[in-house]
Amino acid sequence: LARMPDEQKTVVAGREFWVGHWHGHEVVAVLSRIGKVAAATTATTLIERFGVTRIVFTGVAGGLAPEVRVGDVVVAREFIQHDMDASPLFPKYEVPLSGLRKFQTDQGMTALLAACAQNALPAVKVHTGLVISGDQFVSSAADCLRLQTALPEAMAVEMEGAALAQVCRDFGVPLAVVRTISDRADDDAHTDFSKFVQDVASHYSVTIVSAFLKQFPKG
Ligand code: ADE
Repeated sequence: LARMPDEQKTVVAGREFWVGHWHGHEVVAVLSRIGKVAAATTATTLIERFGVTRIVFTGVAGGLAPEVRVGDVVVAREFIQHDMDASPLFPKYEVPLSGLRKFQTDQGMTALLAACAQNALPAVKVHTGLVISGDQFVSSAADCLRLQTALPEAMAVEMEGAALAQVCRDFGVPLAVVRTISDRADDDAHTDFSKFVQDVASHYSVTIVSAFLKQFPKG
């Protein structure tokens, strides 16, 4: 909000939507809240009430792939809901009646976001790939291993991205998601979580989104 010179607050569904400008783009800034339902409500409100034509999400995630370390950045190419299981009616992970287990982000926005992240933070390792979401803060080595084994391509785990990707697909709204790795989703995942968000991830988020908006075509 400090980067938006003219933001105006509107409250919908208990959320503060801040409408204003950043790098010449009309933007709406909002905290998604935590979990898939909260993120879906926020995304739907952005689209239906505020008429946004694209969504960029930023936040933190737990690293799952061995090479994805604390302090790295992950830009999501696609999402799976790791806690979706309507088997035997539908295959495990498939969102019923969608025919899909994976939901893609927008290719062009994702490529630009990854390039901007790497340019703006040259010392940081930037990964792109599969991110998995579920209504669980993964904070034990056993749960982490279970997810790594079930979905070996997954780079990171968080609690919102797949819900956003599903809503954005339904409405035909392009989405891009960038996450800073705050923990390794293991027994130490909760340690210093809030401190990391405040001291590191919030700065990475503002730097990356700022660089992205500077580059992104207007109109
Ligand atoms: N977001 C950041 N770290 C996470 C974790 N370990 N599990 C789920 N969401 C997260």
